[in-house]
Amino acid sequence: MTTLGTPLSPSATKVMLLGAGELGKEVLIALQRLGVETIAVDRYDHAPGQQVAHHARTITMSDPTLLRALIEADKPDLVVPEIEAIATPMLEVLEATGVVRVIPTARAARLTMDREGIRRLAAETLGLPTSPYKFCDTLAELQAAIDAGIGYPCIVKPVMSSSGKGQSKIDGPADVQKAWDYAMAGGRVAHGRIIVEGFIDFDYEITLLTVRAKGADGRIDTHFCEPIGHVQVSGDYVESWQPHPMHPAALEKARQIAKAVTDDLGIGLDGQYTGLGLFGVELFVKGDQVWFSEVSPRPHDTGMVTMTTQWQNEFELHARAILGLPVNTGLRSPGASAVIYGGVDAAGIVFDGVDEALRVPNTDIRLFGKPESFVKRRMGVALAFDADVEVARANAKLAASKVRPRAA
Ligand SMILES: Nc1ncnc2c1ncn2[C@@H]1O[C@H](COP(=O)(O)OP(=O)(O)OP(=O)(O)O)[C@@H](O)[C@H]1O
Ligand SMILES: [Mg+2]
Repeated sequence: MTTLGTPLSPSATKVMLLGAGELGKEVLIALQRLGVETIAVDRYDHAPGQQVAHHARTITMSDPTLLRALIEADKPDLVVPEIEAIATPMLEVLEATGVVRVIPTARAARLTMDREGIRRLAAETLGLPTSPYKFCDTLAELQAAIDAGIGYPCIVKPVMSSSGKGQSKIDGPADVQKAWDYAMAGGRVAHGRIIVEGFIDFDYEITLLTVRAKGADGRIDTHFCEPIGHVQVSGDYVESWQPHPMHPAALEKARQIAKAVTDDLGIGLDGQYTGLGLFGVELFVKGDQVWFSEVSPRPHDTGMVTMTTQWQNEFELHARAILGLPVNTGLRSPGASAVIYGGVDAAGIVFDGVDEALRVPNTDIRLFGKPESFVKRRMGVALAFDADVEVARANAKLAASKVRPRAA
């Protein structure tokens, strides 16, 4: 049985989000609607989620001492990582000593914190199909890995990075040095490890949102959303839509892979399959062949489309699942999302044309409220639904293009 309290009272059910960007903001809103007391943590003030939470905290989440002090002071019932760069070994300690429950598990947060933990788990422990890969610490090791079998073309990524940062494709020997230098400049923390992956010439890629939620009997069931198709430019999502049509055999394989990896990430320190929540499983598909790429143990950026396509969007699904509530992953209408970029480097920008955007049929927008804009920073998203997913895609892109950010 799930019992929820009253926020800002001794009975409160308290949830702390570690990371309060646009995805965390929507999870916080979903939690607020259930009367949960929310704490939004980020590395800078006025992060999107901090603007809608009961409490805002600003700390360096990769610092284990600061993280521990904050969790011990605020005493949340649940800690929900929304980003990767967190002192996850400290979360494991706090979970092991019963101080807090981490979503889905502290172990999952650690394994998905960099590309190595999750790739080795998926490929080596679970035997799931992935691109061929090798981890390297020097340029010489990278060249040797390519020569020894990864071959060309291939992709180099810092082990600690997201949204395509530091990632580039190598088409031939002339590109190796450039890709290495680019990865060194783009990694999140100052250490030189990279993954080099053989290039998969896929027909399309999807995100399969997968939810581990409690059933009436208290057991955890796995639920799947309809596949989300997306387009990535330089490793960053620009457009997504749902559903993406799939051959039944490919869909079945995709679900098996997603089930295997989320089952494993749901294993807590006690060895029990207790982890709850939504995962974004990224897969490459060619014909009926499916490769595992990576997984977020939390809502996924391409899944923002579910704010217009599902009865319960991915943020509501996450909020409900982590609280032990039932979920409904059903599709309400096909639809699409398109990213609105900052276009300028400036703080406190304004957005012209929001009215024009919303005159495009069946559209909606979210402006995240980020205090500072960069040319390539995601500042908002346009959403569109339509019985025809191609019409929805066109309308989402049209609406996004009508919003014109500029310096104030
Ligand atoms: N081995 C590969 N073969 C072909 N394309 C790839 C490969 N690896 C990555 N890509 C392309 O680059 C995109 C980004 O890669 P990946 O998801 O690993 O990076 P990321 O930085 O974690 O991105 P994000 O955080 O936005 O999910 C993929 O969605 C895919 O389009
Ligand atoms: Mg990705």
